[in-house]
Amino acid sequence: MIECDNLVKIYKTRDLEVLALQGLDLKVEDKELMAVIGNSGSGKSTFLNLLGGLDRPSAGKLYVDGRDLFRMTEAELVEYKKNTVGFVWQNNARNLLPYLTAWENVMTPMLFTPGNNKKKKERALELLEMVGLSHRKNNRLNQLSGGEQQRVAIAIALANSPKLLLADEPTGSVDRNTSDYILDVFRELNENMGITIVIVTHDQGLAKKVNRVVSIRDGKTSSERIMKNDYIEKMKDSDFSWHDVGETQEEYAVLDRAGRLQIPEELLDRLGIKGNKVKLEYNNGKITIEKPEGDN
Ligand SMILES: Nc1ncnc2c1ncn2[C@@H]1O[C@H](COP(=O)(O)OP(=O)(O)OP(=O)(O)O)[C@@H](O)[C@H]1O
Ligand SMILES: [Mg+2]
Repeated sequence: MIECDNLVKIYKTRDLEVLALQGLDLKVEDKELMAVIGNSGSGKSTFLNLLGGLDRPSAGKLYVDGRDLFRMTEAELVEYKKNTVGFVWQNNARNLLPYLTAWENVMTPMLFTPGNNKKKKERALELLEMVGLSHRKNNRLNQLSGGEQQRVAIAIALANSPKLLLADEPTGSVDRNTSDYILDVFRELNENMGITIVIVTHDQGLAKKVNRVVSIRDGKTSSERIMKNDYIEKMKDSDFSWHDVGETQEEYAVLDRAGRLQIPEELLDRLGIKGNKVKLEYNNGKITIEKPEGDN
């Protein structure tokens, strides 16, 4: 569904250039549910905006659903945004119209597609049901809680039946239970409708509950955590609950196409490595990294 290779995004302002993505490599399979984590300013929203066709990449390769986002004309990009991707924004105010009801909000994107009004109303209600909010359909947005508004935002993003759903901090300002509920909604959409979902989050709790988590550091992927197989089995169990689960994922460092590796800062600290050189050695099927002699 997503293939990006050495993806670069540079923001130019009058007297400054910001390298928001510096050669990001990432593949996301069709029907995957995955999360992207990273510190503030590491390039997460930038990446999502490029995927969503809201911003243009500066260099590298970016394919979504077999289409080259680099080569797309403006008209193709509009078509892409209308038909292929759904977007849940980091800032709720950008998702929703406060003076309309939940139902009207979900109908809004459908106003721009052909079809009769009755069908659209039914579809909007279906979507509200999917996110568990049909009982609040006639409430205006300012009468809904933050978590409920976030669910309306998800319903809106689904209005055009996207193949790819992008969510930027969808649980940014909600409590643990609401966050679990929103994750369940994503899981259902992923499993039942086969939508590929990429969630950007700061929320370590949420990140533990998806099949794959990619960490971005300084605009590059640095490590990946993958759900252990026995958890994937356990989750299928009808009594499965996220409460009291231990380590669900295994961590891997990411090797880029040139064989470069980012060593987690924590490990460098533990080895006491301060310079820019390390000793590599191969023995017994393992590569070890050592602090060079004389490096204090
Ligand atoms: N439109 C822009 N113009 C200039 N610089 C930008 C623009 N958008 C983002 N940046 C810069 O690019 C870098 C990456 O920003 P981005 O918004 O992708 O970070 P983020 O990982 O989403 O952070 P957060 O977790 O705080 O949302 C930052 O240094 C940011 O200041
Ligand atoms: Mg962001």
